Amino acid sequence: MKDITRLTSATFGRKHSRRAVNVAVERGSTVLMESAEVLYDEDIRPTYGTDGLSTQTELCRLIADLEGATDSFILPTGLAALTLPMFAFLSAGDEILVVNSCYAPVRRFVETQLKRYGVTARYYDPRLTPEEVVALATPQTRLIYVESPGSLTFDIQDIPGIARAARARGILTLCDNTYGAGVLFKPLEHGVDMSMQALTKYVGGHSDILIGSVSVRDDGLAKKLYAAIKAWGFFTSADESYLAIRGLRSLHLRLKQSGQSALKIARWLEGRPEVAHVVHPGLESHRGHDIFARDFTAANGLFMVIFKGGDEARSQEFLNRLTLFGLGFSWGGFESLAVYCEPQIQRRTKLSGDDDWLLSGSAIRFYIGLEDPDDLIADIENAIKVFG
Ligand SMILES: Cc1ncc(COP(=O)(O)O)c(C=O)c1O
Repeated sequence: MKDITRLTSATFGRKHSRRAVNVAVERGSTVLMESAEVLYDEDIRPTYGTDGLSTQTELCRLIADLEGATDSFILPTGLAALTLPMFAFLSAGDEILVVNSCYAPVRRFVETQLKRYGVTARYYDPRLTPEEVVALATPQTRLIYVESPGSLTFDIQDIPGIARAARARGILTLCDNTYGAGVLFKPLEHGVDMSMQALTKYVGGHSDILIGSVSVRDDGLAKKLYAAIKAWGFFTSADESYLAIRGLRSLHLRLKQSGQSALKIARWLEGRPEVAHVVHPGLESHRGHDIFARDFTAANGLFMVIFKGGDEARSQEFLNRLTLFGLGFSWGGFESLAVYCEPQIQRRTKLSGDDDWLLSGSAIRFYIGLEDPDDLIADIENAIKVFG
């Protein structure tokens, strides 16, 4: 059966036909136990609301199915689903290798929090080969963080290659799989140890929830993640979980539409005289397109455009002229969004001169939602005059 069939028919048991189709929102802190004998039985879960009740359990089951995992855990945000594995597997004296094109708050976390716990972070260029990435490792390197396509620059990493090379050195890999949403790419099938997602984005799909997941195929890793979640006291609400489950039912269709519209708009922009670069991994012109086409089934709705000769003021003018795009930092919802990216690009660690072209004009990131792409093109065409 295909993912989409399992995700939409999963709870449709005939035996219980006189009930709502979707799961219920089960809320609770206290969990009543069957008898005194089982009060301290460590194999029984949940014993308390923080373990998550039936709504959270169902979401974890569906995410595990989607990611091809044996165990999935949920956390209150996507960022928490990134930081928790780092806390779970890194100790004082350890080192983490972080891709330079990471989601920016990862940088803030490793530089402020992990540093305080005695963990060193080193950044690496997303265009290094797997052998070059692993060659950076020292005996202290415990974790390699990968994200592909990378945030903003959409740099493509050879994730299967990095996972293989890291495993041969006994180093764990953690992949931010938010772009692929568990549909376009399956990191665990490519040898990655931990695949996380901000379910906030495409899975939620309606810009109204915050929630994250981390998925594994290894019992030892699962036990350590569960122990860390329990020890830190993270809890993810049943309401958010319910909305994530509801989003999963239509995930494939929304993702497909958003991706197709984005590609159409990106191709249109490539032909415009005002445009210097369209940074979209699904375009043949993208510097990582071959690996992307090998590993991903399709592109999602995100891409960036460098408009010729613009600066921050011109970027702002362009954004203010758009009428169908919300101005906001997220993506994955039903509505199109746009932001300018120069401040975020400037904050990156300088690894090589290869990225200078990113700051050669106005850098605008578009997220394409479910509107008709021709209407969005007309809106951009109207605003693009500021670069004329
Ligand atoms: C690639 C990526 N990973 C993780 C996150 C974090 O998700 P959340 O907003 O749920 O913390 C985001 C959010 O923008 C993201 O873009």
